Amino acid sequence: MQVGGVHYRSIWWDAEAGAVRIIDQRWLPHDFRIATLETLEDFATAIRDMWVRGAPLIGATAAFGVARQMARDPSDAALDEAWAVLNVTRPTAINLRWALDRCRAALASLPPERRAEAALQLAQDIADEDVEINRRIGEHGLALIREIAARKPAGEPVRILTHCNAGWIATVDWGTATSPVYQAHAAGMPLHVWVDETRPRNQGALTAWELGAAGVPHSYVVDNAGGHLMQRGLVDMVITGTDRTTATGDVCNKIGTYLKALAARDNGVPFYVALPSPTIDWSVRDGLAEIPIEERPGREVSHVQGRGAEGAIAEVQVTPEGSGVANPAFDVTPARLVTALITERGICPASAEGLARLFPERAATT
Ligand code: MRU
Repeated sequence: MQVGGVHYRSIWWDAEAGAVRIIDQRWLPHDFRIATLETLEDFATAIRDMWVRGAPLIGATAAFGVARQMARDPSDAALDEAWAVLNVTRPTAINLRWALDRCRAALASLPPERRAEAALQLAQDIADEDVEINRRIGEHGLALIREIAARKPAGEPVRILTHCNAGWIATVDWGTATSPVYQAHAAGMPLHVWVDETRPRNQGALTAWELGAAGVPHSYVVDNAGGHLMQRGLVDMVITGTDRTTATGDVCNKIGTYLKALAARDNGVPFYVALPSPTIDWSVRDGLAEIPIEERPGREVSHVQGRGAEGAIAEVQVTPEGSGVANPAFDVTPARLVTALITERGICPASAEGLARLFPERAATT
């Protein structure tokens, strides 16, 4: 998407310099900075400490990390090391494991002297595929937005609530939940997006930054506002992303998603989840029992980051000294609360049957 009139992806191979570049998300929405990742430790740090974030982008970053490792040392031991080091950087988003398994399976069968080139090509393919998947999710989601718009008086905006950042910087481009929004906006449809703040890391500020840059009308709201907005009839639909979805349609996404799904059900608001197929964990059937929930540092809860009056980015503490802090980063929304899944192959019920209909080749192997 565009930043200051330039088209960016969230990660890319700079062929001229022979380097992997990322948008360093630690500084957004205040500063737009680009960072270069070189060593395996650079890639691990960038994923673990959320310089990059969002399930699809984490997967693509891991693939580029393997590629840079193979450029330095294409041995079996180095390939195994890259898989092992990157695999433990974040536990919940399954795209990480998906990308690492795909890289290892493709590279292990090649002679070492061919691995560097193949690994770089594979990382670029994974990034390109992500862009195309998300573009297609946007097309299918756009059809849903059109259906809602058709039931409203002409010219009235479709009001969409989203949680966290499932935007273009959480993917390689387009975003998952935001792709239908961008495509509807490009089609000239009036929209208004309610952007959940998404404490503790305020990924909603990233969504607001994206939407602002694209000219999409939006309001930033605190996480607790969603239920109230739905009770007042101010939300036409909810669209969120997901970090891991089970073969039965349970959705694990940023903490707070479950509460939005409950409020949506109670108020008759459709609750959609934008789901790229690499985010499906075909080996898991019970999201609550089987998906590991990342517990992140307490400092993310006890402190907030923002731009101070002098223009510098600073952290301030919001809790009293000595208070205990817990920071579960994701929750599971059971399939029964999800109206439908929006995938690159179309829209389906959040159920084993729904997913199997769209992905018969995968469902048959589980
Ligand atoms: O902890 P984060 O910022 O990596 O979590 C991101 C989310 O929860 C997104 O909503 C999710 O990855 C879906 S993204 C396209």
